[in-house]
Amino acid sequence: MKAAVIYHSVTGNTKNMGELIAKGMNSVEGVEAKAFPIENVDTDFANEAKCIVFGSPIYAAHITGQMMNYMLAEAGKLALAGKLVGAYTTAQYVHGGAELGIRELLDHCMVMGALVYSGGGSFGKPVIHLGPVGIDNTLDINQFAENFEVYGKRMARKAVELFGE
Ligand SMILES: Cc1cc2nc3c(=O)[nH]c(=O)nc-3n(C[C@H](O)[C@H](O)[C@H](O)COP(=O)(O)O)c2cc1C
Repeated sequence: MKAAVIYHSVTGNTKNMGELIAKGMNSVEGVEAKAFPIENVDTDFANEAKCIVFGSPIYAAHITGQMMNYMLAEAGKLALAGKLVGAYTTAQYVHGGAELGIRELLDHCMVMGALVYSGGGSFGKPVIHLGPVGIDNTLDINQFAENFEVYGKRMARKAVELFGE
């Protein structure tokens, strides 16, 4: 089963966290995962993917304009209806709007008929309610790395459970 992470990133934080999600996905047997920047998505691969996670930096307490445009203009081409989807963000402040951004991404996916999932608190720690958040180097973003990898694993396991390998 293919799985994809699609992100916007300017200074690399959202890219790095997205690659950790893909690493976690790839640790699940039968899963082939790749991470793509919105400027260079392998649409054939993403179309085939049964699980897609979207990521954005937070700008002014929202996802970026580029990510918003991607969701409006391009994500409709990914056949999201019935797929398992999730979302993550990176931000500068814990109060900077990161979870609002996750909700924005998930709302887009729901509009396109996707099945939204994160695992929430059902696996215990790390509890990841809506999706993982990384706070940038003002707080050393690497301390959040494990959450992203674990999240990728949980998303991929659920996708395999739903759709098979
Ligand atoms: C124009 C701009 C606006 C930003 N606005 C916010 C914000 O509202 N809240 C916040 O927590 N961080 C904000 N940030 C910080 C970024 O979200 C953060 O550094 C993020 O990790 C950058 O992601 P990237 O390295 O993938 O580009 C802003 C950064 C820029 C450049």
